[in-house]
Amino acid sequence: MKTLFVGQNRIHLQSVDSTNSYATEMLRQISLPDGTLFYTFEQQNGRGQRGNSWESEPIKNVALSYVLYPKFIAADKQFMLTKVIALAVADLLTAIFKKQGVLADVKIKWPNDIYVNNQKIAGILIENTIRDSFIQSSIVGIGININQTLFKNNLQATSLKLICGKEFDLEEIIIHLSEYIEANYLQLKANKQNLINNNYLNCFYKLNETATYKVDNEIIEAKIVGVSELGLLQLKLADDTIREFDFKKIEFI
Ligand code: BTN
Repeated sequence: MKTLFVGQNRIHLQSVDSTNSYATEMLRQISLPDGTLFYTFEQQNGRGQRGNSWESEPIKNVALSYVLYPKFIAADKQFMLTKVIALAVADLLTAIFKKQGVLADVKIKWPNDIYVNNQKIAGILIENTIRDSFIQSSIVGIGININQTLFKNNLQATSLKLICGKEFDLEEIIIHLSEYIEANYLQLKANKQNLINNNYLNCFYKLNETATYKVDNEIIEAKIVGVSELGLLQLKLADDTIREFDFKKIEFI
């Protein structure tokens, strides 16, 4: 692995309920080096955002969690971490498609789902601990659909195998992912915020497109115009006003 620290301390778990929960528990008990990686190919009870579950067929996909200490990120800037992690996953997938000679459109669906050709291929769950207004530690959980080809109908999911028509080596993917995570994370550490913001918006799903959303049980048509510093989605409504929405308040339809 060509990294300085991300994934250097690597712990393979044969089977686990959730790598995020496991990493959180380990962090409570012992000190873990920055960039420690817990990974499994058999996650029984994966957790997703909004209290959803993350399902993954055994031995087909990777589920992993990195332990990071981004103490340089203020609590009100935590969304920057979300951005660099989503960009790292997008970079990994873009590189794989390029290598395979496959034309595929990788997008970040706000706040940090990774979509390819309008279907979800990866999910991210970041759990930060804040102390004195700065991030103290962060558990960065990522699930990527790799060799799974059957998904529940309602999931609108896809995988690398479905897109490229071949199987991938799971360990190799973890190595490359760790390299992209480190590269993007170091950009954040070096305070390259403009570059990160530009990269994020360049990959943004449905930017400047009109789409349908559910807000407080109401269906509205609106256009995504950006994301605020706090990570709120900025929508231009039919009356041309711009409003910001919290992740818990709004849903893509
Ligand atoms: C989502 O799409 O809602 C986020 C899904 C995050 C899934 C990953 S898999 C590894 C890590 N451990 C978990 O329990 N969840 C994350």
